[in-house]
Amino acid sequence: MSAPIKAPEGAPFARILATGSYRPSRVVTNDEICQTIDSSDEWIRERSGITERRWAGDDETVATMSAAAAEKALAAAGLASQDVDVIIVATCTHPYQTPSAASEVASMIGVPTAAAVDISAACAGFAYGLSMAQDMIRGGSAGHVLLIGAEKLSAFTDIYDRSTAFIFADGAGAVVVGPSSTPAISPVVWGGDGDQLQAINMTQNWVDFKANGFDIFPTISMNGQQVFRWAVSEMTRVCRESLDTAGVTVEDLDAFIPHQANNRITDALVRALELPDSVAVARDIITTGNTSAASIPLAMDRMLASGEIHQGGNALLVGFGAGLVFASEVVTLP
Ligand SMILES: CC(C)(COP(=O)(O)OP(=O)(O)OC[C@H]1O[C@@H](n2cnc3c(N)ncnc32)[C@H](O)[C@@H]1OP(=O)(O)O)[C@@H](O)C(=O)NCCC(=O)NCCS
Repeated sequence: MSAPIKAPEGAPFARILATGSYRPSRVVTNDEICQTIDSSDEWIRERSGITERRWAGDDETVATMSAAAAEKALAAAGLASQDVDVIIVATCTHPYQTPSAASEVASMIGVPTAAAVDISAACAGFAYGLSMAQDMIRGGSAGHVLLIGAEKLSAFTDIYDRSTAFIFADGAGAVVVGPSSTPAISPVVWGGDGDQLQAINMTQNWVDFKANGFDIFPTISMNGQQVFRWAVSEMTRVCRESLDTAGVTVEDLDAFIPHQANNRITDALVRALELPDSVAVARDIITTGNTSAASIPLAMDRMLASGEIHQGGNALLVGFGAGLVFASEVVTLP
């Protein structure tokens, strides 16, 4: 009989230990956006809540922004990069098919031996990654996971497309996930609707781009109304299920940090969930735009830094986007 294989042994629970963020320095106003689309500052504010956003410059990439956010999160956690076992970058705008942004980050922050992987779950990427990080820690495959949501959406946005040009923006948010003696991340509620594949997609793929003589650069296209309807109806159900799964009610929440897709989607969810006034609601989209996988950690980091939310509070997170896919957890704030 062959020798038994040793089973992995993990920590009893996992928690977010600290956050960090990177916001590109260039502020892009609605008036600047309206130079290439037929729109107005007033329309953009009213329909999306966005007053301005940040766009990265040439020297600011998904990897450099990720590394900058990661270093802040590690410093806040009191950890060295060598303490990181796995780096996950959730992104849909890393411009290389391979190697991954996570491998670039591993090299940049001086921990080239860490396991490194990107995940592609669009605006749900951070919430997907958080569940995966928790499973790695509890499953024994990692001690500390560096989870980063990072996007340079401006590189894949058609500035002449008035259904997307005003929404998308750039930035990176990072968290360090590590072992915990008490539960601090609930079981994930996740899923999708692959039949709505076309609701948010690329205008063409790289192979067609080449076959078509490099004519139309692939950019993100979106059926805004379809996504809006799905987000409001489905995410209400998902958030309720997430609260039930975590064993808490809205009365137990200190914060609601949904993906920053559109302020009106957030408003609709707040109303449908009947959140008490005491729950702090993320509104980072107003000055940050929709940064896809980066939006939840960026919002969390800003809310913690401003004192709007506090360590030890409960936050309901929900990410949703292209796929269509979604994921939600209740977490204890770091
Ligand atoms: C994109 C979005 C802001 C558009 O808002 P909306 O209220 O749905 O707007 P509609 O598409 O219904 O268009 C309403 C009107 O505004 C016009 N319009 C559309 N885009 C416009 C723009 N940028 N500026 C001015 N007018 C615009 C339309 O032509 C339409 O005019 P009409 O009533 O005369 O036909 C909204 O659908 C949305 O946020 N969707 C979800 C997006 C999202 O979350 N994406 C990321 C996925 S995670």
